[in-house]
Parts: sequence; structure tokens; C-alpha cells
Amino acid sequence: MSPVFESQDVIGLSKKISEKSLAGYYNPYTKFNWTDSVDTGKLWVDADLLSVYGTPYIDELSKEQLINLSKWESINFYSLNVHGIKELINEMVNRIHHPRYKSISQFLHHFIGEENEHMWFFAEFCNRYGRIYPSKAIPGLGKEDQDIEDFIVFSRVVIFEEIVDYYNSKVGGNTEVHPLIKDINYYHHIDESRHVAFGRGIIKALFSALKEKLDEQELEGIRTYLAAYMKSSLEQLYSPSAYRDAGIPTPHDFRRKVMNHPGRTESHKKMIKRTFNFFESIGAIRKEDEKHVCEFINH
Ligand SMILES: [Fe+2]
Ligand SMILES: [Fe+2]
Repeated sequence: MSPVFESQDVIGLSKKISEKSLAGYYNPYTKFNWTDSVDTGKLWVDADLLSVYGTPYIDELSKEQLINLSKWESINFYSLNVHGIKELINEMVNRIHHPRYKSISQFLHHFIGEENEHMWFFAEFCNRYGRIYPSKAIPGLGKEDQDIEDFIVFSRVVIFEEIVDYYNSKVGGNTEVHPLIKDINYYHHIDESRHVAFGRGIIKALFSALKEKLDEQELEGIRTYLAAYMKSSLEQLYSPSAYRDAGIPTPHDFRRKVMNHPGRTESHKKMIKRTFNFFESIGAIRKEDEKHVCEFINH
């Protein structure tokens, strides 16, 4: 048993978000209009979501090359979703009917169900219009303590969801992209607002319990891990496979040059800002880590 999962705050949160899930339920298998092609002769995403945005490479590539890059970077982004969701479903299935998580099991049913549906439409998109890129999992912290393990797992989920949501909320409101692309991003954004609210509530409660239990050195280890996880998550947006499929001749070299370009720091800051500020507000990350997370050099 964990007092965190027995607390009235967590029980109330689980009940409230479960009701919202029920009220917002839709059938994803019939919701979207799958067309033969989603090519419109325009970018598949907002220009400032391209990995070359803020660097000289955006001007060096032709319009056709940029459109092609936007396609394959979208495929990378949706593939990351497929693999990220697979990981989080695994973690939640392992917890769902263990007595420790009884208070949240109802919500976990909604969560797993919704994520399974998200994974379906992201995978469908990749398979229809590109392919699913292979995954590169980010290692965990490797602690035996269940309270630490829970905190890390729920934190990884929320960091992943909030980075994804930065992208979804932009593309979901973009009237220039193909309507299917807009719809997938928009509906995912709506579902994720519930998941993030739930995850943040759990994380806050778990971390305040850890602050009582752990010494400063152990807490610092957790903060260092979270900063490294955020950085690795941003690095995954630079995909050699996407550069190769977009016709860039030296994809690994190009990746290194683009992601280490100082013009990218601002985009990293914007993508991570909301989740970084949340973790900083509960003391789970240090203000000075922002520099380490967002400024890439010499990879
Ligand atoms: Fe999702
Ligand atoms: Fe989610």
C-alpha cells in the first residue's frame, strides 16, 4: 500500500477524470476520414515544428525538399507516439489490478483504452502514408524502490505527453495542413489534456511523499535523471531515418549539425517550457537544468 494512492486527493482526481473520459468518449475507428493521400503541396506541420527551423538549413532546402522533410519528420513524430504509447500501456497494465493502485484502476481502464486507440490511429497514419520507424527506448532510472519507480514512470509519461501536446495543439489548429492531419492532432490534444491533468496530480503527490522519505543526494539523483530524460526526448525529434527518407545525402552528419545549432535552443525551450516549469514548481528539477536540457553542443 502507498499512502499516496490512498489519499482523498488522488481518489477524487481519478473519479473526476474518469467521468470526463466517459463524457468525451468517441469511436476512433470511425472518427477520421482516411483519404488515399494527405499530400496538399504544402507542409505537413507548422514551419516552426521542423527540426531545421531557426537554422540556415531551412533556407538552403528547396520548397519541395522542405515539404518532403515535413512529411518524414511527421512520420517520425507519429512513430515516436506509437512506441511511447506502447511503453506507457505496458507500465499501466502491470499496475492496473494490483492492490496498491486500486484507487486509480477505474481511470487506468480509460487511460489504457484511450492510449490503445491513439496508438492505433498513429500507427495507421504511418502505415498508410509512410512506415513505422523503429524505436529507441530511453533507459529508466533502475531503482528497486516502488515509490521512486512510480514517480519516474508517471513523470516519463507526462513529459512525453506534454512534449507531444506542444506539437498536437499547434498542428491541431493549423488550417493549412490536410484535414486528416489536423483532426488527428486536434483530437489527440483533447484526450491528452485529461491525461496530463491526471498525471500531474499523481506526480505532485508522489514527489511530496518522496521528499519526506529520501535524503538530498537521492533527490538530486532523481532531478538529474529527469533533466537527462527531457533532453533525450528532444533529441528523438531529430531522426536520421527522416533525413534519409527526405533525400538528405548524409543524414547522420546533417542531424548532428542541425540539432547542435544554437538557433535550435529557442525551439527546445518552447517545447519543454510547460512541463519543465511544472517539475520545477514541485522541486523535481533545478532551474539551472534548463540550460543543460535545451542547449545542445558536441554530440
Ligand atoms: Fe495519447
Ligand atoms: Fe495520453
